[in-house]
Amino acid sequence: MKHGKKCLALALVTLLLAGMLSGCGGNGKSLEQIQEKGTLVVATSPDFPPFEYLAGGKVVGIEVDILDQICQELGITLTIQQMDFDAVVPGVQVGKFDLGASGITVNEKRKKNVDFSNPYFLASQAIVVNPDSDVTCKADLAGKTVSVQTGTTAEEYCMSNGYEVLAFTANNDACSALTTGKVDAWVVDNQVAVAMAADNGLTVLEEPMTTEPYAFAFPKGSDTLVAAFNEKLDTMLADGTVEKLFQEYGACYVSPVK
Ligand code: ARG
Repeated sequence: MKHGKKCLALALVTLLLAGMLSGCGGNGKSLEQIQEKGTLVVATSPDFPPFEYLAGGKVVGIEVDILDQICQELGITLTIQQMDFDAVVPGVQVGKFDLGASGITVNEKRKKNVDFSNPYFLASQAIVVNPDSDVTCKADLAGKTVSVQTGTTAEEYCMSNGYEVLAFTANNDACSALTTGKVDAWVVDNQVAVAMAADNGLTVLEEPMTTEPYAFAFPKGSDTLVAAFNEKLDTMLADGTVEKLFQEYGACYVSPVK
């Protein structure tokens, strides 16, 4: 009996320690583990031009080009997995993917669940309207109905600022809600707004709703991988490679560093 109790106590302590250790380590892999595996598994929602979108069945875009270059320099390949945006950060958090690339905004809430690379771009949320709209600035939008993509910072902002919100898992559907007149405006990241508005005959308002930096997300505990990644990314930022990529995709570059 006595022995049994001791065993139980030992088992509990072991469990507790294991839990604490895995808690500290997180779900991330080290650079060495990724290099041994040979590939970086990337989660993305390719409905977000010019950052990631489908062209001829392939995922392309600014973030894909940045990742391609970094992975090449680290001697690993890129394995891209497609999903809805609201699955990207949760999937990275549990370690299902090594990295999330989806024009992901860095914020305090997400920082609790994933680690971020250094930011590489300063985005904002834009208001997109039909050309005949009477909404011409942020103030005009008060009390109106807006469409957003589920799980985005646009959704969070619009919900907490008193707008009537219709959320869609696919970014295209949030856009269509506007063109079909279901909402008064579509709130989406500015470069994506510009890229998609032209094709859909929509107007992007000048006044931004928010400003927010983009970065790549990693499972917590990916420390050596994030460090190696940041070193490459910082070089690409400093030597103008990232800015040039934006130009190539017809997008306007804004540095996240003041
Ligand atoms: N920047 C916004 C956010 O982090 C929107 C990202 C949406 N990305 C996408 N690939 N659909 O919430």
